[in-house]
Amino acid sequence: MHDPWLDAAAMSVLRANDAGRWTVPSRTQYPHQWNWDSAFISLGLATFDWDRAVVEIESMLAARWREGMVPHLRYDPAHVFDYSPGPDRWPVAQTHVAEPGIATSGITNPPVLVSAAFLAGRRQTVRQRRLAFWRRAFPALCGFVEYLARDRRLPGAPLVAIVHPWESGWDNSPRWDHLRAAGLRPSRPLSRLDTEHVPVADRPTDADYAGYLALIDLLEAADYDIGGFKASSPFCVYDVLMDALWYRAACDLNEIASELGEEQPVADACLREFAAAFEEFHWDADLGLYVDWDCVSSRRISRPTAAGLAALAGGLVSGDRAREAWQLYRRMQAGALAVCTVPPTDPAFEARRYWRGPVWAHINWLVVDGMERSGLKGEAAELRRETLDLIRRSGFAEYFDPITGTACGADAFSWTAALALDLLSHELSD
Ligand code: DGY
Repeated sequence: MHDPWLDAAAMSVLRANDAGRWTVPSRTQYPHQWNWDSAFISLGLATFDWDRAVVEIESMLAARWREGMVPHLRYDPAHVFDYSPGPDRWPVAQTHVAEPGIATSGITNPPVLVSAAFLAGRRQTVRQRRLAFWRRAFPALCGFVEYLARDRRLPGAPLVAIVHPWESGWDNSPRWDHLRAAGLRPSRPLSRLDTEHVPVADRPTDADYAGYLALIDLLEAADYDIGGFKASSPFCVYDVLMDALWYRAACDLNEIASELGEEQPVADACLREFAAAFEEFHWDADLGLYVDWDCVSSRRISRPTAAGLAALAGGLVSGDRAREAWQLYRRMQAGALAVCTVPPTDPAFEARRYWRGPVWAHINWLVVDGMERSGLKGEAAELRRETLDLIRRSGFAEYFDPITGTACGADAFSWTAALALDLLSHELSD
């Protein structure tokens, strides 16, 4: 459905959050550049300002490490005191940044940025301009995909080990409750600024933050070496969504390479080996869903969350499996709106608390995309409509209460606006 109001409102959120070379997720709550935020934001920008979408991706790639990692956060020097933790929490991380003068965190995010470079790139109809962008970005995109496959590989599987809940983007999800249970304490306390603009009840708890900061201490002490870190940490996992999105990024990177006439960066044999390991480690036959794997205790984390559904966007799952997972999850949702991150039938469910239940626009975007890839076109169109309805009703919120549909977290949120634009453009072309 053509919706000029939603279109214009979404564009004005993106314009208001534009910091020049990147878009802040929210002026009040997140005043820097975040990795997968910028990826999703570029998809929305590409619907109306392709050049600005390219700048969004390139500014994130410019913050890469010498090893190829693209960090989860690039600090804006003008706002270092407006957000905690600041770069002072990650001093060793700063010694890894490729470009002097750029300050970053020491962890990463699922490599949606690579897929966004591919998807946003394809929106440019002038072939020469499209190829010029891909040509410039190609080395950094390859470096990111290779970094995850090489520096995050543990003996025994070709999957990507993550070292912090912030890497998954699902900070306080019940998937990561074993970190909270470990009761880690950081070397020094942190004054939280995240509860100044958002109600405490919508955010992770102080106990969660103690774990997040203590993991940063462990990473710094290990100089970001996965082996050294794993030996000292209770948190090291194969995140189902990270793995699915790595596979997707590798396939999209191969597509870019073929457009550029370059050799395929990720060999078919590697993709096959990765897909087999994905099935072995992530498929939970008892639940009928894809879940995470705890690399410390060597066991599956059998929590049913929307991460297993969003993982369909990786393109690794058969159509039948995808349909079963979708039907099962919707039953568990018991009437909750769109796709919520934790089903209300789970004892850990909290309707408003960040990753413990709410509906997030980017997760719904991934589910829509994954279902389309799996051939579930009707279900994908239905979910796209539900997601857009929620945004029309409650605005460009950071996330939404899945029972009442009300807005939670920060308002005027960039990826909600950006993905509304992208979802609308696909609705029109359907
Ligand atoms: C981060 O930095 O990724 C956290 O999600 C902020 O809440």
